[in-house]
Amino acid sequence: MSIDTSPYVEQAVKAVQAKIGNVKPKLALVAGSGLGSVANLLINSVSISYADLPGFPAPGVHGHKGQLVFGEISGVPTIVLMGRIHVYEGEESWRLKVMIRTMRALGCDFLFLTNAAGSMRLEVGAGELVMITDHINFMGGNPLVGPNEDKFGPRFVDLEDCWDPELRSILRSCADETGIPLHEAVFAGWMGPAFETPAEIRMLTLMGAQTVGMSTVPDNIIARHCGLRVLGVSVITNLACGLSPKKLSHELTMAEAEKGAAKLIVLFEKFLSKLAVLV
Ligand code: HPA
Repeated sequence: MSIDTSPYVEQAVKAVQAKIGNVKPKLALVAGSGLGSVANLLINSVSISYADLPGFPAPGVHGHKGQLVFGEISGVPTIVLMGRIHVYEGEESWRLKVMIRTMRALGCDFLFLTNAAGSMRLEVGAGELVMITDHINFMGGNPLVGPNEDKFGPRFVDLEDCWDPELRSILRSCADETGIPLHEAVFAGWMGPAFETPAEIRMLTLMGAQTVGMSTVPDNIIARHCGLRVLGVSVITNLACGLSPKKLSHELTMAEAEKGAAKLIVLFEKFLSKLAVLV
């Protein structure tokens, strides 16, 4: 199904501006499962329910709050998106385009993607933070399939620097300065909603991935299409299927992500203080 996202984006931009005034957000962060506490960093915050934003996903799906929170961190006007749409949600996945394009249309230059992910490296277990250096798209499709909406970006998108090298080096310096261990990985985007099998995890490993999750790859592609510069961090919630005796579940993901969120918050705040000098 191909949906023209432009009218939704226009209306969502108006709805956000009606609440936040003329100030332009510079960066948007998508908070992955269990990572919503990042929004607590925002000063003078204004919350808007996704229910009030045309084309945004309905609130309350899978433990997501379904809220856009605007505020300042280290002087940088920032939006935290609490809740995204996944490819496995099926026909609703066009809403992810509306969310990300709305961020661009509001004035954002940067998108900070976070997620909960499984790890294929035994030494990188639950609670560890991993910066995404590249990805492999195993989501069963590409979010840009269908007529191109020229207004937002070109038909063919270059993904060479889709995980922005300059932003990665800034985050690396934040990790060094705070002493928070930050691993690096090629992330495999897996469609889900079923977790992978042990054989699939072996396949992904052979293909060059070290982490796996069910989001973030489409977000990245949509963002690059409309010119956002993107950074991504996974909070590891489990060793991937077959690598540990623990059974995988959404509950495990949420509980472990919440533990890793504290470190992510420290890194994110530091990152914004450095970004404030750039913007
Ligand atoms: N696989 C896919 N998605 C995930 C995982 C995993 O092991 N952990 C958290 N999200």
